[in-house]
Amino acid sequence: MRVDGLEEASVAPWASVLNESERARAARFVFPRNRVEYVAAHVLARRALAAATGYPAAEFHFEAGVHGKPVARIGDTAAGTHFNLSHSRGMVAVAVAPFEHGLDVEPLDRSINLSIAGRYFCPEEIAWLSGLPQARQGEGFLRLWTLKEAFIKATGLGLTQELDGFWFQVFPPAIRFKDIADDPAAWRFEQRDLDGKFMAAVGFRAPPGPAPLVTWWQVEPDALSATGDPSAPISRRPVNSVVGPMS
Ligand SMILES: CC(C)(COP(=O)(O)OP(=O)(O)OC[C@H]1O[C@@H](n2cnc3c(N)ncnc32)[C@H](O)[C@@H]1OP(=O)(O)O)[C@@H](O)C(=O)NCCC(=O)NCCS
Repeated sequence: MRVDGLEEASVAPWASVLNESERARAARFVFPRNRVEYVAAHVLARRALAAATGYPAAEFHFEAGVHGKPVARIGDTAAGTHFNLSHSRGMVAVAVAPFEHGLDVEPLDRSINLSIAGRYFCPEEIAWLSGLPQARQGEGFLRLWTLKEAFIKATGLGLTQELDGFWFQVFPPAIRFKDIADDPAAWRFEQRDLDGKFMAAVGFRAPPGPAPLVTWWQVEPDALSATGDPSAPISRRPVNSVVGPMS
């Protein structure tokens, strides 16, 4: 959901669905833009969880795992649906699924200093990035970044996950493990260009059985404002912007 251009006054009514600790956390951000992003992401997460489980959006509470990954609960029990959210300048994104996954979204106009690539990326990734025409290296950087974030958010380890233990083949997106005892074939990653302005990636270890179908939707902020019922279904339209190869 795009949140650029949204004023605090327009998201304020949504906050009624948040709990005390979410409202307090939102209030601690210094910049209005961060408050808007936080409220929008958390309301969208609650609405998506409500749609997936049938529980009212306001009834969820959240518990952080050891490395901070939140788990949605209803009363004393897990809500039975996993979620992950990402907020970036101008866009918030939420994924829900019956299994663990990770999601990241970044603005494509984010200023990138390619000299820091060595701090985050493996030699294989840096070699691929260096082989791109200069004009496409910023996008290449963000393709890698969002895929890597999707993985470390899927495992829930966040930055405690060694970034040099795995690397990505960018197209089609596929993980390769170095020092991590895991099966790359078990992992699925998808990437989308959102409005030509944001790069998003989602990743998960596929559960046994038929491959899950990932469906991407764009939600308009109006959809959250249109009704006084915070548990009403959210109107949305499909996103079809699969990203292609890069050269
Ligand atoms: C915290 C981290 C999990 C994501 O941070 P981020 O990219 O700055 O932020 P995002 O908006 O995408 O995600 C934040 C949300 O992820 C969730 N989250 C927090 N810890 C998490 C974890 N360990 N695993 C999965 N999700 C987590 C939370 O819902 C959080 O939002 P909230 O605090 O409003 O509830 C972690 O990956 C990080 O600090 N990254 C910093 C950037 C970096 O150096 N990345 C290297 C990539 S190569």
